[in-house]
Amino acid sequence: MWRAARLGRGVALGLLLTVHAVAAFEPMTVGIAIGAASALTGYLSYKDLYCRFAECCREEQRLNASALKLELEKKLFGQHLATEVILKALTGFKNNKNPKKPLTLSLHGWAGTGKNFVSQIVAENLHSKGLKSNFVHLFVSTLHFPHEQQIKLYQDQLQGWIRGNVSACASSVFIFDEMDKLHPGVIDAIKPFLDYYEQVDGVSYRKAIFIFLSNAGGDLITKIALDFWRAGRKREDIQLKDLEPVLSVGVFNNKHSGLWHSGLIDRNLIDYFIPFLPLEYRHVKMCIRAEMRARGSVIDEDIVTRVAEEMTFFPKSEKIYSDKGCKTVQSRLDFH
Ligand SMILES: Nc1ncnc2c1ncn2[C@@H]1O[C@H](COP(=O)(O)OP(=O)(O)O)[C@@H](O)[C@H]1O
Ligand SMILES: [Mg+2]
Repeated sequence: MWRAARLGRGVALGLLLTVHAVAAFEPMTVGIAIGAASALTGYLSYKDLYCRFAECCREEQRLNASALKLELEKKLFGQHLATEVILKALTGFKNNKNPKKPLTLSLHGWAGTGKNFVSQIVAENLHSKGLKSNFVHLFVSTLHFPHEQQIKLYQDQLQGWIRGNVSACASSVFIFDEMDKLHPGVIDAIKPFLDYYEQVDGVSYRKAIFIFLSNAGGDLITKIALDFWRAGRKREDIQLKDLEPVLSVGVFNNKHSGLWHSGLIDRNLIDYFIPFLPLEYRHVKMCIRAEMRARGSVIDEDIVTRVAEEMTFFPKSEKIYSDKGCKTVQSRLDFH
């Protein structure tokens, strides 16, 4: 898994060969074919045409902020704060021609509230192939960095991997899932890349995006959401300022946050802490409907209610928030 980044030439070759039935494999031949084709079409540059077949890193490509906004509003349920902050963070960063540091987002909240889901949407809006893109990299702590004794090795590998990929594509996206299960030492290794340096060993990291996902802080976020609920206040009235300070201090002091004493927080290297609120019964129902729609089924409200009622909710007394968010909706739907 630690190979240097591929540039997608294999894909380009494959497509061109099937389209034009060219029986040669040398890049030169394909290059000439592309050149000829672009001369024929006239208006397409070599690069444009090449990028139709191969995935290209388009660093200067702007973010379609209104498309991202629409997509988040349509698909992400019950997360008005996350929607707002993610939009603001990405638009600001992508509109800035000379960012002083890479963008670092830290997403926090209960399991199944949409952190991975949002990362996927963000990734797709930055590189159209999303998680399948050669320029988007997902690390899962328990999968990629499981052994505490091997931290030194992971640090070296991670540095090499990030350096290689950012050299190949400055606007690379790195997602670290399960930060709460990551040894802080591992993330220490990438600290220099996240800082305000113009270059580190000849590579500039300033256009890269780092997204950290963690359940840490989920309890604090839930507590505040619950306070609002008990006070009869609307969920949508919860503001970032109600959560952000609690969150960054709370996460910093939480030994299981992965960011704990990693120096990312005390050096202010995290640009945005993004809270994910626990999901209510009505949001779970929305997830069920979305899943049914995605499967092409007609929405049967009886099934929606039945599936939603199979989920468990907390706190015990009030049963407001889903224990697993929308996480088990897909598998439960299989039984109906
Ligand atoms: N807020 C949400 N809005 C819409 N769908 C959601 C939301 N939260 C979770 N889901 C659904 O549940 C699945 C699991 O959520 P996921 O994003 O993996 O949760 P986590 O916060 O633990 O990363 C997602 O793939 C998505 O289909
Ligand atoms: Mg997750």
